[in-house]
Amino acid sequence: MKGIILAGGLGSRLAPLTRITNKHLLPVYDKPMIYYPIQTLINAGITDIMIVTGGNHAGDFLRLMGNGKDFGLKHLNYTYQEGEGGIAAALSLAEYFADGESICVVLGDNIIEKNIIRAVEDFKKQGKGAKIMLKEVPDPERFGVAEINDGRLVSIVEKPKHPRSNLAVIGIYLYDAEVFNIVKTLKPSDRGELEITDVNNAYVREGTMTWEMLDGWWTDAGTFESLLRASVLVAQSGANNK
Ligand code: DAU
Repeated sequence: MKGIILAGGLGSRLAPLTRITNKHLLPVYDKPMIYYPIQTLINAGITDIMIVTGGNHAGDFLRLMGNGKDFGLKHLNYTYQEGEGGIAAALSLAEYFADGESICVVLGDNIIEKNIIRAVEDFKKQGKGAKIMLKEVPDPERFGVAEINDGRLVSIVEKPKHPRSNLAVIGIYLYDAEVFNIVKTLKPSDRGELEITDVNNAYVREGTMTWEMLDGWWTDAGTFESLLRASVLVAQSGANNK
């Protein structure tokens, strides 16, 4: 399985912090944000990793991480997203890298407390389709929200005004190689982006999407509040604990 970290976009919600650097290079407690999703993949046994970045400071990723020596890696792959076409648009740039294998996609601003290796192993056994992970949150309207009926995933709604549950879809996704064909069928949403939620709903409709509850805390770090929360959580209990 290959790992893909999506660290493009312009991080406009964090301006002016993001005026002179990329959001994913900002500090979360004692490390740059991008270190956390990389460690998430490595802890899950995934070491063949591509980082999709973008914006004006993409070169700084290379200066910071090079070939991933800090993580014990021999090689890291990079690609560049023009503009801010959405999470699914960023993902489409990794098709060549994925080369027909299944993938674990991690959003560059998502940080977790524990290890997702069990979900990754479960997905390997599943063989095809996709898997998402859910977490109960107090503010579901900020996220993709899952509607579960009798244990069955009915649909996912992106940032609903009136959420049908408090189950956020976290930014770690497991896909088979079909995902790149699904992305090609997407139309931009009202916010002008190719949405990962539309990708996930395609798998839900097909009946090949599974889900698990995430163990331990999870946060994004793309707003001032969540960036601060991420630092506090990491300082208090550490991230990516095995
Ligand atoms: O954090 C989990 C949530 O992430 C999910 O619950 C939502 O369903 C999903 O749409 C996403 O929501 P956000 O609106 O918070 O995503 P955001 O635009 O902040 O992008 C998250 C990361 O994705 C960002 O840190 C880098 C990457 N990204 C985003 C865009 C828009 C890209 O690589 N390229 C892009 O064009």
